[in-house]
Amino acid sequence: MPVLVAFAYSPPAVAAANVENGKYILTAAGCVGCHTTKANKQKARLLSGGRALKTPFGVYYSPNITPDPEHGLGNWTEADFLEALRNGKSPTGDHYLPVFPYTSYTQMTDDDMRDLWAYMKTRPPISDANIPHAAPFIFRMRFTLGPWKMLNFKPGAFVPDPERDAEWNRGAYLVKALGHCGECHTPRNFMGGLKSDLYHAGAKQGPEGEVVPNITMDADTGIGKWTTDDLDTLLTIRMLPDGDFAGSGMAEVIENTAKLTPEDRKAIISYIRSVPAIKNKVK
Ligand code: HEC
Ligand code: HEC
Repeated sequence: MPVLVAFAYSPPAVAAANVENGKYILTAAGCVGCHTTKANKQKARLLSGGRALKTPFGVYYSPNITPDPEHGLGNWTEADFLEALRNGKSPTGDHYLPVFPYTSYTQMTDDDMRDLWAYMKTRPPISDANIPHAAPFIFRMRFTLGPWKMLNFKPGAFVPDPERDAEWNRGAYLVKALGHCGECHTPRNFMGGLKSDLYHAGAKQGPEGEVVPNITMDADTGIGKWTTDDLDTLLTIRMLPDGDFAGSGMAEVIENTAKLTPEDRKAIISYIRSVPAIKNKVK
């Protein structure tokens, strides 16, 4: 039956990338904030880089990630992009500095990475040149990052927990792989790696030197007294339970969480509230 054989050998249908989902992932993962200066954001020159990230390890400038062939990712393949997000490696095999939170993005699914790439390619190319990092030499030495990654980086996509329901798993994915909440809310060791035993327990010195609160459910030092509604109000309109408004890095995070679907915000909250309470006073 040659006809059947022909059918059996027809190539499997490859699902076209979902550009709309890619746009949503870009928001949920907060790529625009780091990769755009404030001035360029107002002019809608998004992802053109040049934003100074003033960390305790020196000042770093985000690169241009528009499709510009000279200064951006115009010559990158989809595989190059997946390698950067999954393994923190450049097309020439260099390690990226962990100020680019691929330590979290590694947990994205292949499909979400592909959709994100498809969306990024639809953005207008902008030909702004990259600015070299101004960090002390030791923190710019990429060859030291091999050992650093062995100790502080676990590559691989998020694996859903079969013991938990779909909402919890979606929330865990949004928080860990995309929103990278722990990159700020978890304190770091002397090497700049995350202290996993203090997951979400707050940091006296966040990425830009600021105090980042404990967001575990500890009643005294965390958000144990917050209701689900309190969290939704914060993640939608930035208002804290005492009527004040969250600022610094969190304000930018909320620009993005406010644009997520109500279901996704609910999933984030359900996951955040399930993280074990840790007593850790940071403010
Ligand atoms: C906290 C700030 C921050 C966030 C958030 C962030 N990046 Fe970056 N990104 C950086 C910095 C800084 C570098 C440069 C790293 C280096 O020099 O090793 C970088 C590098 C990159 C590179 C490599 C570019 C090149 O020219 O080699 C790509 C691609 C990239 N980011 C994509 C993304 C995407 C996609 C997102 C969202 C999913 C994202 N970034 C979110 C700060 C950030
Ligand atoms: C860029 C760093 C950064 C990231 C990423 C980040 N946060 Fe925050 N977050 C902060 C800072 C800084 C504050 C304190 C803001 C203030 O007090 O003005 C804060 C405050 C909060 C608070 C209020 C806690 C309190 O006691 O006032 C909650 C809740 C919170 N963040 C949840 C989250 C969640 C959920 C995510 C991920 C979706 C997230 N954060 C991602 C830096 C960050």
